[in-house]
Amino acid sequence: MENQSNNKQPEFKLAQYPELAGRVAVVTGAARGMGACFAAGLASQGVHVIGVDINEDELKAAFAKSQTADGKTQGGTLTAMRGDVTASESLVNIADEAVKRFGRLDMWVSNAGVFPQSEIGSVTAEQVRQTFGVNVDGVFFGAQAAADVMQPGGVIVNMASVAAFRVRRGRAIYSATKAAVHNLTRSLAVELGDKGIRVNALAPGFIDTEMTNWVREIPGAMDKALASIPLGHIGTPEHVLGALLFLVSDSASYVSGQTLGVDGGSRHG
Ligand SMILES: NC(=O)c1ccc[n+]([C@@H]2O[C@H](COP(=O)([O-])OP(=O)(O)OC[C@H]3O[C@@H](n4cnc5c(N)ncnc54)[C@H](O)[C@@H]3O)[C@@H](O)[C@H]2O)c1
Repeated sequence: MENQSNNKQPEFKLAQYPELAGRVAVVTGAARGMGACFAAGLASQGVHVIGVDINEDELKAAFAKSQTADGKTQGGTLTAMRGDVTASESLVNIADEAVKRFGRLDMWVSNAGVFPQSEIGSVTAEQVRQTFGVNVDGVFFGAQAAADVMQPGGVIVNMASVAAFRVRRGRAIYSATKAAVHNLTRSLAVELGDKGIRVNALAPGFIDTEMTNWVREIPGAMDKALASIPLGHIGTPEHVLGALLFLVSDSASYVSGQTLGVDGGSRHG
């Protein structure tokens, strides 16, 4: 395998936020990657998590694994629900289900995303519709469904990307969707601020998930990616979880309308 680290990686430790215990969260795209890590990480803080994914079998398997892993769900719970974020009625049902089961909805994490790569001449209309459908419609209608049932103090976190700010060949549509998420987050924060709901976004850089596995298959791609990361190593889902926990915690109660980079500095690399 190619070099994955130019620098020695510093220690990483997650903070604890005891105030989160007993709160209720929805995480979309929770079957694998960052979504699965967010769901397990929130549950380990005592949160009741409803995980949503289009891939129900993988979602149930991921949650079963987290539930049996030692210390993963102290006090929190993980509930798997099939859902497609491109269908707004599916998101409304999920928000209603959270309130029906747990009496409240405190956090909505719009994490589900797709990452097609095609040079402009080969992008199809179907790819454009699908990518905007998941990455943008899913975020907007998720926020709409959540805000409808949330009380003041509710928090929405959307998944943007370093791609919102930095373009690369083959990623025109993906980058456009993530720039839209960055922008939507600001508008949602302005309008939902009236209801006491905070809205922020995360903008990860290169995170080690199945979405980025292709980098390992192309000779030289990993070294090229590393060269654009000032900290010199790729990120893990746990690095992004650390930022998510801060954003949903009471420590961030005056933070809204922000897109927080978790990218080893690569937005500027
Ligand atoms: N991995 C990275 O380097 C990286 C960097 C920046 C941003 N992101 C963003 O972070 C998010 C998570 O990325 P990941 O790397 O964990 O991806 P992943 O591909 O490992 O997981 C994405 C999950 O979303 C689910 N999903 C896709 N379409 C859906 C739909 N219509 N309805 C419900 N669920 C759906 C998939 O089934 C999958 O479980 C995405 O929004 C992605 O664009 C990833």
